[in-house]
Amino acid sequence: MKVVVIGGSGLIGSKLVPKLREQGHETVAASPQSGVNSVTGEGLAEALKGAAVVVDVTNSPSWEDAAVLKFFETSTRNLLAYEAAAAVGHHVALSVVGTERLVESDFFRAKLAQENLIKAGSIPYTIVRATQFFEFVKQIADFGTMGNEVHLPPALFQPMAVDDVARAMARIVMGSPVNRIIEIGRPEAFPLDELARRDLAARKDSREVISDPQLRYYGIRSSERTLLPDDNAQLVGWF
Ligand SMILES: NC(=O)c1ccc[n+]([C@@H]2O[C@H](COP(=O)([O-])OP(=O)(O)OC[C@H]3O[C@@H](n4cnc5c(N)ncnc54)[C@H](OP(=O)(O)O)[C@@H]3O)[C@@H](O)[C@H]2O)c1
Repeated sequence: MKVVVIGGSGLIGSKLVPKLREQGHETVAASPQSGVNSVTGEGLAEALKGAAVVVDVTNSPSWEDAAVLKFFETSTRNLLAYEAAAAVGHHVALSVVGTERLVESDFFRAKLAQENLIKAGSIPYTIVRATQFFEFVKQIADFGTMGNEVHLPPALFQPMAVDDVARAMARIVMGSPVNRIIEIGRPEAFPLDELARRDLAARKDSREVISDPQLRYYGIRSSERTLLPDDNAQLVGWF
């Protein structure tokens, strides 16, 4: 089976591509670096020739409002149009748990637009919503940093390792399109502030974490459960 991974050079893409190759699939790692651009359409027709599955693990170079929306809308429309022309049978896209609850943020409004285009399109699909990545806990702490303090809300989340995300994506690529959203995550829930505190301590980083339920997560008002997957999510053992 030929699989094209759009965003194949990224954090998730670069872990997913070898997993698919190990399983014997002809796998193309596509991105602007390799001459394939889902925003301009450059190289897409050639890359998608004979593909059974296209996986979209792209990310926008800019998270600013108009730019991020334009990126995900244009890229998704192009991918779906080129996939229709190439008779691709399965579009798999990576999104984020809780996207519809996070639309105060430009980034998540753009991810929701991406999901809605896929749902309204003609290509059979699976949208995979993953929880936050463990590898980004430090980035979350950096975002909440003021001087030598890190200000974070105690919102619960169930982070998963990038390697687990890639393993789950590989399993989904092997399966049939389900034409709905699947959520994935690890079973343990941690308060954001608590995990950031542990992460900084392990790094011997002297910043102090200040917890405040009124604080926002990336500018988004979040309750204790905003970032949690729902009860039907696939947890440990499935991927
Ligand atoms: N961060 C989280 O905690 C989290 C959680 C769940 C889901 N996700 C989702 O996971 C997805 C992938 O994230 P990531 O961290 O793996 O991304 P990343 O490391 O930033 O990689 C982005 C990829 O997109 C490619 N790309 C950028 N512009 C492109 C274009 N015009 N055409 C084709 N490819 C393009 C890049 O290619 P070049 O290398 O050539 O520039 C790169 O391969 C994102 O959509 C994100 O929403 C993230």
